[in-house]
Amino acid sequence: MNYKEMAELVKGWVEEAGDLLRESLQNTSLKVEEKTNPSDLVTEMDKSIEAFYVEKIRAHFPDHKIYGEEGTYDEINDLDGFIWVIDPIDGTLNYVKQKSNFCSMLALFKDGEGVLAFINDVIHEDVYYSVQGEGVYCNERRLEPIEEHPLKEGLLAINTKMALSEMEEAQQLIDEALGVRLIGSAGLEMVQVLMNRVSAYVTTPLQTWDIAPGYVMAQELGLTFTQRTGEPIDLMKKNAILIANPLAHKEIVKTFIN
Ligand code: IPD
Ligand code: CA
Ligand code: CA
Repeated sequence: MNYKEMAELVKGWVEEAGDLLRESLQNTSLKVEEKTNPSDLVTEMDKSIEAFYVEKIRAHFPDHKIYGEEGTYDEINDLDGFIWVIDPIDGTLNYVKQKSNFCSMLALFKDGEGVLAFINDVIHEDVYYSVQGEGVYCNERRLEPIEEHPLKEGLLAINTKMALSEMEEAQQLIDEALGVRLIGSAGLEMVQVLMNRVSAYVTTPLQTWDIAPGYVMAQELGLTFTQRTGEPIDLMKKNAILIANPLAHKEIVKTFIN
């Protein structure tokens, strides 16, 4: 099976996960548990969607490794071979409290290079996906490459933790941009940059599953996606990220280099 055929197959799984998640919004007795603190939640749907992806991957690609947020870890000591990265619900707090502003994400890497990526914006029924070298699609529509522009011509997205714990840096960047937007789902925030609705997204350290598909898709659209210090992303650890068009990226990175 080539990558395009794989993408068609996996898009079906991601769409099915979206259907299950939309149906689950009617469930009035959803099981919700705390993980590390009261705002770090996991629901029965986080677990069952991850299990759903894992079952499909194991059945079709038994030799591939899996790295999933909700506990499915094969032993991964390096990036050799095929590795699937799963974030079954990104923005679980939004899923529980807002019943919107969450997504489901999957990415496939081969020897550390992103080859397939999927982000399902469940409420809007928009599936973003990419195949290496073939661009990024939203459902049937191919996304336009993004033209370079300075931060002062666009909006800035940051994650909540950055807004709260790094106020000086956040303020400096917000002053530069036309305005700031916070959603609470790294996946949907990265989509905003892919769609050129915001010009940059900057964060405190995030897990690999939070960033994997956005990282893969950014490369297809001519966006620069690095650690916010400008260093390359290291998929084996957490990364504080900066995704932007190359010009805005060059401007923003200065804030984080000392
Ligand atoms: C969270 C969201 C959020 C980000 C957090 C992530 P989760 O993912 O992406 O925007 O700021 O750091 O943990 O836990 O809902 O999958
Ligand atoms: Ca996440
Ligand atoms: Ca999650």
